Amino acid sequence: MSELIEVRVPDIGDYADVPVIDVYVAVGDAIAADGALATLESDKATMDIPAPVAGIVREVLLKVGDRVAQGARVALIEAAAPAQAAPAASADAAITAAPVATSMAATAPAPATAASSSAVSTSSSPAAVTAQVSGSGPQAFVSSAATAIAPPPVEAAAAPVATHASPSVRKLARELGVDLTRVPASGPKGRILADDVTAWVKSALQAPAAAETGSPAPAAGGAGLTLAPWPQVDFAKYGPVDSVPLSRIKKMSGANLARNWVMIPAVTYHEDADITALEEFRQQINRENAKGNIKLTLLAFLIKSSVAALQRFPELNSSLDGDALILKKYYHIGFAADTPHGLVVPVIRDAGGKSLAELASEAGALADRARAGKLAPAEMSGASFTISSLGGIGGTAFSPIVNAPEVAILGVNKAAMKPVWNGETFEPRLTLPLSLSADHRVVDGALATRFLAHLAGLLADLRRLLL
Ligand code: COA
Repeated sequence: MSELIEVRVPDIGDYADVPVIDVYVAVGDAIAADGALATLESDKATMDIPAPVAGIVREVLLKVGDRVAQGARVALIEAAAPAQAAPAASADAAITAAPVATSMAATAPAPATAASSSAVSTSSSPAAVTAQVSGSGPQAFVSSAATAIAPPPVEAAAAPVATHASPSVRKLARELGVDLTRVPASGPKGRILADDVTAWVKSALQAPAAAETGSPAPAAGGAGLTLAPWPQVDFAKYGPVDSVPLSRIKKMSGANLARNWVMIPAVTYHEDADITALEEFRQQINRENAKGNIKLTLLAFLIKSSVAALQRFPELNSSLDGDALILKKYYHIGFAADTPHGLVVPVIRDAGGKSLAELASEAGALADRARAGKLAPAEMSGASFTISSLGGIGGTAFSPIVNAPEVAILGVNKAAMKPVWNGETFEPRLTLPLSLSADHRVVDGALATRFLAHLAGLLADLRRLLL
């Protein structure tokens, strides 16, 4: 005859009225010895209440939100084998118990016989106390050793898993909205550390977002962007300050940039382009037309060459739409323009069909309108790829933020003369640093690097544009 064990809240020091914050089992669940039944949390500590024996849960006698004290009834467990009192748990013993979630499907106890035929005994001995680490007093209680709660043999589905984490880590997880059972532990003996929680949040932030992709929301309870509040600091306490309202453009672009930064798993790739010949050609044309109205800009060459590279690698001229990739057959190129009010991105439509002179003059006119604050919304929409050129200012490399819903953006810094080995000697070559940020969901490293290498090749020898 199986024995029915009544589990009670063990000695939790002077604490009374302690809230139950988690109940892990339901009637009929199989549970391993030491598997967590429920978690209590005082204002200073959390502790799990473990099953004293392996068996089947026949009754659950508390629920989340109940407030309990020592001796409160927790559950009735029908022991799988004649009940053996767990050895009196020392703090260390409890802490070192197996931390890894294991499926008990193969070893789960046989289905229970009728509870009514079972004998009842009570377990609220100190053996049921999970762990009391160092120090004294209830503050030192921590959660139990993490032992899997086994599903009944017929149910192979994932069962709730008890976790092994300190109260401060549990608190952090609650503040960030993180389900600890999903966080891989890296601490000793399977303990989840604060760094594990923050690493989990980081990886969750990089998951494709439902709103962006149209795909189902990431697994519930782990991927929400519930961040710690922004620090509120009275800066005037530390020295004189001025408070200047953000421009409308900065407020709008700031929100978009923040969204793109957290929602797009972007990687930035770097390449140098030899633009010695390009620059000679550009200067020559500009000299020839010194009295005319043609002034070829480097930006025009970048736009022209980018379109050719996009035609060769169409994934970079695309957008994600749920599980589909929208490959665009148009080449509308946005370019970042620095204005007194903030960054705006005018768009040159059908850039592939325009000459270098047309691209230079249109970009110049759009940049002037942008700086005068006169761009119409239509002139800033519909881009399929963006170029952000800081070359007139300087820099050697940077990581531009992908401009959603595009999947890639080209960053350009200042060209500089560099010694390049030609096989026999070092030659001075005008070298243009290119930085491509690309959404890794669409563009992997090999593709991004091929695109950049191709683009650099076009800029190095413009005759390739004719191919
Ligand atoms: N390397 C070396 N020199 C460069 C260069 C580069 N990569 N890019 C431009 N220059 C030179 C130009 O040739 C020009 O000299 P020139 O008169 O002899 O031809 C000079 O620098 C000024 O160029 P610039 O005013 O930047 O013109 P542009 O046509 O190259 O660029 C814009 C136009 C709109 C892109 C540019 O004015 C701008 O606003 N850039 C900032 C973009 C930005 O803020 N991006 C960051 C987003 S976070």
